[in-house]
Parts: sequence; structure tokens; C-alpha cells
Amino acid sequence: MRIGVLTGGGDCPGLNSVIRALVFKSVKEYGSEVIGIKYGWKGAVENITTELSLDKTEDIIREGGTILKSSRTNPFKIEGGPEAVIKTMKDNKLDALVAIGGEDTCGVASKLYNQYKINVIGVPKTIDNDLSGTDVTFGFDTCINIVTDAIDSLHTTACSHERVLVCEVMGRHAGWIASFSGISGNADYILVPEEEVDTKELCETIKKVYAKKSYAIIVAAEGAKLSNQDVTKDTELDAFGHVKLGGIGEKIAKIIEKETGIETRSTTLGHIQRGGRPSAFDRVLGTRLGWKAAEMVQNGEWGKMSAIVGNKTEAVSLNEAVGSLKTLELSIHEDSKLFFGTETDKQLAKSH
Ligand code: F6P
Repeated sequence: MRIGVLTGGGDCPGLNSVIRALVFKSVKEYGSEVIGIKYGWKGAVENITTELSLDKTEDIIREGGTILKSSRTNPFKIEGGPEAVIKTMKDNKLDALVAIGGEDTCGVASKLYNQYKINVIGVPKTIDNDLSGTDVTFGFDTCINIVTDAIDSLHTTACSHERVLVCEVMGRHAGWIASFSGISGNADYILVPEEEVDTKELCETIKKVYAKKSYAIIVAAEGAKLSNQDVTKDTELDAFGHVKLGGIGEKIAKIIEKETGIETRSTTLGHIQRGGRPSAFDRVLGTRLGWKAAEMVQNGEWGKMSAIVGNKTEAVSLNEAVGSLKTLELSIHEDSKLFFGTETDKQLAKSH
């Protein structure tokens, strides 16, 4: 078999682990060939390919990003786009296409399967951890480790200057990054897209925290909403209809400073969260998903996505995976509030 593989959407650590595992299992176990399609769906439309071999992929597990490069191209927004993908497959004698990506890239894969009967298999990838059908996506673990390190650093400088610091993190529609890094970094308040920001309650909590320890740390997901509105950088939409989010940290910092009189600053971590070497967890997770995708290709499990379900790899429906986003479990967010506003043991004893 000849198998094409592409990586689409925002990159994240662990993509190369998937590519390596797919190549090794396909070549060594099944005698297949794997051809890299560069720049995500752009390369599939424009026929930009590269050779992939054992030699080329044997040592890429340690590298962040993707050796195949990425783009946010949507073939369904290009005149003749899906037909061009079919032509690229024919020209390269591809029997199957493995699309590694999030809701957008897998969404295209699902449409190509439904509408054009293309032999496609998805592999879930998103730093935001918000793809359904899988318990977890690679890149997320590396990301929350990077953010936790950053929050640890913010604690010391916030403490020295007796300031409030707001740390803005990724998470377009889901608060997984904010919640998990906020819990592990011991944040005093966490803002997530799943819950409208109550600025009054936020400022009251920050006042209490500040009264106790003379500084405070807030983690805000970029997709958290103020007065039910996204905070955006500009109004331009990408090919998948997404706005560029950004600026919630600055806005929240200004509100806190105005309402509490405490000096407040904000830091946006941005793409640092998606860069660098993958954690050991993400390397193994990507590898397992790549092996599973290779197996699914041989079994002809088209229109499906390799996934982690209960710590086992499984083939799940692509349609279902892209049907709705996996947002943050609210019980996790609610429990994390136990750490906000830290009363002393004495105060708590009095109130009980
Ligand atoms: O891929 C998801 C994501 O990392 C979001 O968290 C973020 O809003 C967006 O991508 C950033 O996109 P770009 O890399 O195009 O700026």
C-alpha cells in the first residue's frame, strides 16, 4: 500500500512521534510505503510531497513541531479543492490518506470521506485537548508543563513586587490548558471559556488573596468571555471561520487594578506553549496513536480516527469526533475553586 500522511492546523509537540510510528509500523510490519504531504491540506491540494523513510524518521521523536510543516488551508474553501486532493492521491498512487489534526483538519477528513469516499483516517491532535472521541491529545501534556513552569516563575516575581499577575494561555473554546496548568501552578483564580467571567467576584477574591499573601496569580484562557463576548485581536477570520483571540489578560489586569487599586500586570504565553521538545508522555502517546493509525489503514477502517479510550487505542468515528467539542469538565473547574481565596484554618473553623 502507498499511504499519504499530512499534519494540519496549529502544530504541537508529539506530531513527529506519530509520523515516525506510522512509518515504522507501515514499512516494517506491513511492507507499505509512506509519503509525506507537506503543509497540511495545502500540500494535498497543490501536490507538494516528500519522501518518508525509516532513515528520515528514526530520530525525529525528540523534535517538536512537524517535519511535514503545517497550514490552516481548508480545501472546501478553494474552488475545486476536494477534486485537487483526489488528483494528488491519484498522481502519487496513494491508497490511503492519514490526516493528523484537530477539529478543522479532521473535519475536512471527515467531509472528504462522507462526500468523496476518500480512504481517509484521522489522528487526533490539538494543544487545546478539546477534540471529542479521544480521552486525551498529545501536545497537551507538554503544554501544561511549559505553562506550569511559567506560572512558577510568575509566583516569585509577583511575590517580590507584591503585584497581581494575570497569565493568558491558549484555549480557544475549552479551558483544559488554563484549568490544568492553573491547578498545578497553584493559581489563585482561573478563567475558562466554559464560564462567563464574574469580574465582581474575581476582584473580591483577589482582594482576599492579596490581604493574606500580598500577591496573586490568575490564569486566563484566551477564549474566556467578558460580558459574553470573545476578546479578539482583530476581526479577520481564518479559512475555518475562527477569529484571532487575544487580549483577555490585559483587559482583566486593567479591571482588577481599577477595582482593587492593586498594581496588576499581564503576561501572554502565546506560541511558546506549542513549541519545543515533546514530554515523554506526549512522545509515547503520539507513538501509540501512530501505530494504531497504521493498523487501521491495513484494516481499511476508513472514516475513523485513532483514539485513546480508557488508556487503550481504539478506532472511533471521525464524524462523531468532530461533531462536538470536548469542553472542560465543569466538576474539575468547580473543585479547583477550593484553592481560590484561601481562608486561614482559623477563619474556616469560625465559619463552620
Ligand atoms: O491550535 C489551537 C490554537 O493553539 C489555539 O489555542 C490558538 O487560539 C490558535 O491555535 C492559535 O493559532 P495560530 O497558531 O494560527 O496563531
